[in-house]
Amino acid sequence: MKFFVDTADIGEIRELTAAGVVDGVTTNPSLIAKTGRPIWEIIEEICEAIEGPVSAEVIATEFGGMVAEGERLASIAPNVAVKVPSTWDGFRACRALSERGLKVNVTLCFAANQALLAAKSGAAYISPFVGRLDDIGLDGMEVVREIRAVYNNDKSFNTKILASSIRTPLHVTQAAMAGADIATVPPGVLRNLAKHPLTEKGLASFLVDWGRTGQAIL
Ligand code: E4P
Repeated sequence: MKFFVDTADIGEIRELTAAGVVDGVTTNPSLIAKTGRPIWEIIEEICEAIEGPVSAEVIATEFGGMVAEGERLASIAPNVAVKVPSTWDGFRACRALSERGLKVNVTLCFAANQALLAAKSGAAYISPFVGRLDDIGLDGMEVVREIRAVYNNDKSFNTKILASSIRTPLHVTQAAMAGADIATVPPGVLRNLAKHPLTEKGLASFLVDWGRTGQAIL
């Protein structure tokens, strides 16, 4: 499973990219708003910092506007993936933008049927929002499992499952086990994947024991 980082913070992206753990970036209007900077500037900087796909989301809610905004966003850099919502107009825009050779990420997906429509519309990525389903008492990961089963049943689909709204390290493990192709993970959660109290404890005791030997490796 690949890792995308779910942020518009260029500092975080540069740091995590240097660590070699990031295959792409996802942004959304809320993440862009948090930076207080123009979307053009941010997306351009991110696309320069990373070779992989960088998702930038349209704001228009009707077909024509989505296509026009999608084309404009895609003109920023060749690695932009245009994000459109899982709505009827979004699926139409996905089809139109995909036919123009652009990569489309269909976002705000909460059901396997939306993922089915996205794949039929030529989406490069489908983004099921796991955490937001958990928030309302449903099992978000079940939707990822359903989408995997649906996509496995039709070999003509080329859409990658991009597990989104990932909130915890457990979500990452579960997404990998459910067959997600990619998980987009906030920087804090990505860093937490490396942490385990027994690793910290074991390392501390090894260092104490080693100190007693008086030896050095270098
Ligand atoms: C995905 O592309 C979205 O940007 C993101 O995963 C949403 O996560 P949230 O539900 O934690 O805001």
